[in-house]
Amino acid sequence: MKTINIGGTGVYGSAVAVGCMRIAGMGAENLSRYIHTALEYGVNFFDHADIYGGGMSETIFGQVLAAEPGLREKLVLQSKCGIGKGMYDFSKEHILESVDGILRRLHTDHLDFLLLHRPDALMEPEEVGEAFDALEAAGKVLHFGVSNFSTRQLRLLQSGVRQKLCVNQMQFGLKCTGMIDHALSANTEFPHAADRDGEVLDYCRLEGITLQTWSPFQYGFFEGPFIDNENFPELNACLAQMAEKYGVTKSGIAAAWILRHPAKMQVIAGTTNAQRLGDIAVGADIQLSRADWYALYLSAGNQLP
Ligand SMILES: NC(=O)c1ccc[n+]([C@@H]2O[C@H](COP(=O)([O-])OP(=O)(O)OC[C@H]3O[C@@H](n4cnc5c(N)ncnc54)[C@H](OP(=O)(O)O)[C@@H]3O)[C@@H](O)[C@H]2O)c1
Repeated sequence: MKTINIGGTGVYGSAVAVGCMRIAGMGAENLSRYIHTALEYGVNFFDHADIYGGGMSETIFGQVLAAEPGLREKLVLQSKCGIGKGMYDFSKEHILESVDGILRRLHTDHLDFLLLHRPDALMEPEEVGEAFDALEAAGKVLHFGVSNFSTRQLRLLQSGVRQKLCVNQMQFGLKCTGMIDHALSANTEFPHAADRDGEVLDYCRLEGITLQTWSPFQYGFFEGPFIDNENFPELNACLAQMAEKYGVTKSGIAAAWILRHPAKMQVIAGTTNAQRLGDIAVGADIQLSRADWYALYLSAGNQLP
């Protein structure tokens, strides 16, 4: 499995990471097996959030870490905070309290990465900066980033924060291509030509910010997987053809499609199925040709000028 120097920090995360949003019901024993299978495939990066499973995702993950001394050191752990009940909350108090809760649930003394989950309209960059300084000084968080941020929001927050924002986690995959559609359709009247994120993909490449792709196998706002979905026959036919050609599965091709982009994005896969994770991990090591990459993009229902 190839690795990515996350945000230029020198921390190398696997190109495919495990997203922990759906693990709350797995049970600690099953989850332990899953983590070890992931490691066998070279997957060392695990993405959490304080709200996943109402905290249960972190809790059972922490049970596994508590039961297996030495396991924590093999993993790169990331979590997120900033989503409160009916609001977003980037206040210093909320961030500090959230991280204490995350560390307690995960049974660890530090996070490798902390992300702010969704932009808070009331965000005050200097206040976030104070929270990050306190977390860094206490050794509770090593590196920082954000999720679902546009270019301007990244720049605004960075203006008040000493630490480099290393990560921006965005929804991206074959059925969610907003980050590239507008660039491909620049100077046209195509509906996809509208830039909704301030060309955040190019900005992250320029600044060395790692883009992590959430819900990479879903369509819509995680409405369901597009793979083997009868609503997307053309895309599935193309995936099947590529899977045959490269000797991997459709899930593997869908991951390879994201990783073929030179932005060096990281795929956050939310499967809880070890076989599927293996398929995705194997797919991550193939290099799609330029023609195949574009054929997949078009088969997903996109157009080129
Ligand atoms: N930052 C944010 O705002 C944000 C938002 C949402 C998610 N996330 C992160 O992104 C991660 C991934 O999100 P996600 O779980 O929605 O993404 P996903 O990997 O696109 O979807 C995984 C789900 O699709 C199912 N699935 C069925 N067929 C599949 C196939 N052929 N290939 C792959 N999956 C298939 C999986 O079921 P099985 O378990 O049976 O395989 C699982 O329920 C989350 O765990 C979380 O860490 C972040």
